[in-house]
Parts: sequence; C-alpha cells; structure tokens
Amino acid sequence: MTQTLTDSYLRTIDYLRISVTDRCNLRCSYCVPPTPYAHMHHTDILSYEELIRLVRVGISLGIRKIRLTGGEPFARKELIGFIRDLSALDGLEDLAVTTNGTLIADQIQELKDAGLTRINISLDSLKPERFAEITRKDLFGEVKRTIEGSLAAGLAPVKLNTVLLDGVNGDELEDFARLTFEHPIQVRFIEYMPIGKGQGPAHSDLLAPAIIKRLEALGTLTPLIRGAHDGPSTRYKLEGAKGEIGLISPMSNHFCATCNRLRLTADGHLRPCLLSDTKVNLMDALRNGADDETVAALFQHAAGIKGQRHNLAGHAVEDMMCSIGG
Ligand code: GTP
Ligand code: 5AD
Ligand code: SF4
Repeated sequence: MTQTLTDSYLRTIDYLRISVTDRCNLRCSYCVPPTPYAHMHHTDILSYEELIRLVRVGISLGIRKIRLTGGEPFARKELIGFIRDLSALDGLEDLAVTTNGTLIADQIQELKDAGLTRINISLDSLKPERFAEITRKDLFGEVKRTIEGSLAAGLAPVKLNTVLLDGVNGDELEDFARLTFEHPIQVRFIEYMPIGKGQGPAHSDLLAPAIIKRLEALGTLTPLIRGAHDGPSTRYKLEGAKGEIGLISPMSNHFCATCNRLRLTADGHLRPCLLSDTKVNLMDALRNGADDETVAALFQHAAGIKGQRHNLAGHAVEDMMCSIGG
C-alpha cells in the first residue's frame, strides 16, 4: 500500500534528489575547491542496484519525482542504463536530471527514449572564453548542442540554471534573459549559497530584488501563477517572450515552506536539507542487511528531522556542493 511521507511541519515529501557521483569534469570556482580534493572511493558509492532498491522503497512511501544530480551525473558510467531501469519502475511521475550538459550532446534522443522526462542544464556564461575561465574547460559548444538537442527532442521544459556572481558573470543577466525572447526555455537565475567549507564569499549584491529591477528594464515583466511542479523557482515572463524566467532565491527569500524534498548523497546518506549537514546513514543499514521496513523507517526518520527552514546564519554548511548535488 502506498503511504505518504510527511515531515514534522506537515510538508509532503514526494521528491528525491539523488547525487550519483561527487565527481565533475568541470571545475567551477564557486562549486568545486580550487585545490584537488578527495573523491569518494567507488566502493563507498551506492551501486545502481542499491539505488534501485532505495528508490523502490521511496516510491512505496510516496516519492513521485526523482532528479539525478552530481557532481556531474553523466561523469558516472552507464547512467543511461540506470535511467532506463528507473523509468521502468511503477509509480514515478517525473525522472529528471541536472547536468552541466558537456558530456551528452549526442545522446539526447537516447536519454529521452530511456525515459528521461526533463533536463536542467547549468550554464553560467554565454561567452565561450568566459565559460572556459569559469569551468576550466573549453566546452561551451557542447553545452550549446545539448541545449539545442534537448529543445529538438521536446524534453520540455528545458531549464537553464545560472548562478549569478557579481564581478564574474553578473553583467550577462540581460543576455541570458533575452534568450527567452527567441527560445522556449526557462532561464533560472540562482542566488549563490555559501556551501562547502572555505567556499567563496556571499556575493550578496546579486539577490532577487536587484535581478528583478534589471529584468524590468528589458520589458514588461509579468509574474506567473505558481504551478504544482514549480519547485523553488518563482516564474516570470517578459512580454513577447517564448520562454520564461525563474528566480531561485534561497538567500533573499527562502522557499522552505514549500519544501518537498530529501537528498540522497552518492555515499548513501539521506540529507533532509541542502543547507544543514544533518544526515541519516542508509549505506550502513543497506550493507548490514537491513530489510525494506528498516530502510523505510530511515526515510521516515530523515523526513521527521527535517528542519522548518534553513538557518544559514546559524550554521555554515561544511559538505561541498559537488557531494550534495545542489
Ligand atoms: P525543478 O524540478 O526543475 O524545479 O528543479 P530544481 O530547481 O528542484 O533543481 P535544480 O537541480 O535545477 O536546482 C536549481 C538550483 O536550486 C540549485 O542551485 C539548487 O542548489 C537549488 N535548490 C534546489 N532545491 C533546493 C532546496 O530545496 N533548497 C535550496 N536552498 N536550494 C535548492
Ligand atoms: N549556490 C547556488 N547554486 C549552486 N550551484 C552549485 N553551487 C551553487 C551554490 N554555491 C548550482 C549549479 C547547478 C545546480 C545543481 O546548483 O550551478 O546548476
Ligand atoms: Fe528545503 Fe532546506 Fe532547501 Fe529550505 S533550504 S527549501 S528546508 S532543502
């Protein structure tokens, strides 16, 4: 019998974000530390078989949406096969991925055929040289092909994720927004969150109110009514645009009241909140032979200890973004 997973604040948890690897082929300065860092050992990472089992238990508890993240999810071998196996499970309504788009330009149709329903592509610059500076890889052309391929394959809505950093790419806000005049994509501007020990400064000047002001200078900006699957973004449309603009504002206006998610790290820990290092160890339970009921109880425990809202002022996040998956 299907149950509902609810937290202590009566929020329904139906969305599981799974980080399948902490590795990434890019080196964006705000996400990955500048010096080489220790990766998780492959034996410390949940196998696809273990993940399928956890997802089955999640579905029995009411999980309906899965998003695969990383690191870069496609840096893990055979991800398409895993997507195919996930999509064969009964009960999932949405099977999405958040990717940097550099490794899959020739595989979009295959991904769609495997059962992928949606794709969010991270892109912080529309200038190839700047893209290479930010990511330390000259792969802008690949991302562009991935975006075009996703649109052609009808993986709608195609969302671009852009973390705006003052002094890095803040001047491209208008160029990104103008993309929506020509293309039916959703460009999402994300406020930088200070995540990971020793990660960059707060970049506090590119928060949603300033972003909205600049967008309004481009044309009439209409807020759109919140849809059931909007997640953390607030959507807008510029008059005459084919696409939409989304604002993700965890710093200036957190969206915790509508939070519907748990995160599973590649090394098998359930993380109730992106911005709190509290974790529940599923890996040990799994590898010590826990039955499905015990695993389900751990999911319920993780939902039960989910905080009402994040408190970045009170607690720094130690884990790195690339190991949590955003
Ligand atoms: P949709 O399902 O398309 O709405 O995707 P999403 O926004 O849930 O996921 P995505 O991986 O594209 O994340 C976009 C940005 O939102 C990233 O910077 C994430 O770190 C951030 N984000 C996603 N979920 C949360 C959340 O629950 N809390 C906070 N603070 N940030 C989040
Ligand atoms: N703050 C906000 N967003 C971030 N991302 C990575 N690091 C941060 C951060 N510190 C974004 C990536 C990707 C998504 C998964 O999270 O750009 O789009
Ligand atoms: Fe949910 Fe934590 Fe994100 Fe708030 S910060 S929306 S509680 S995951």
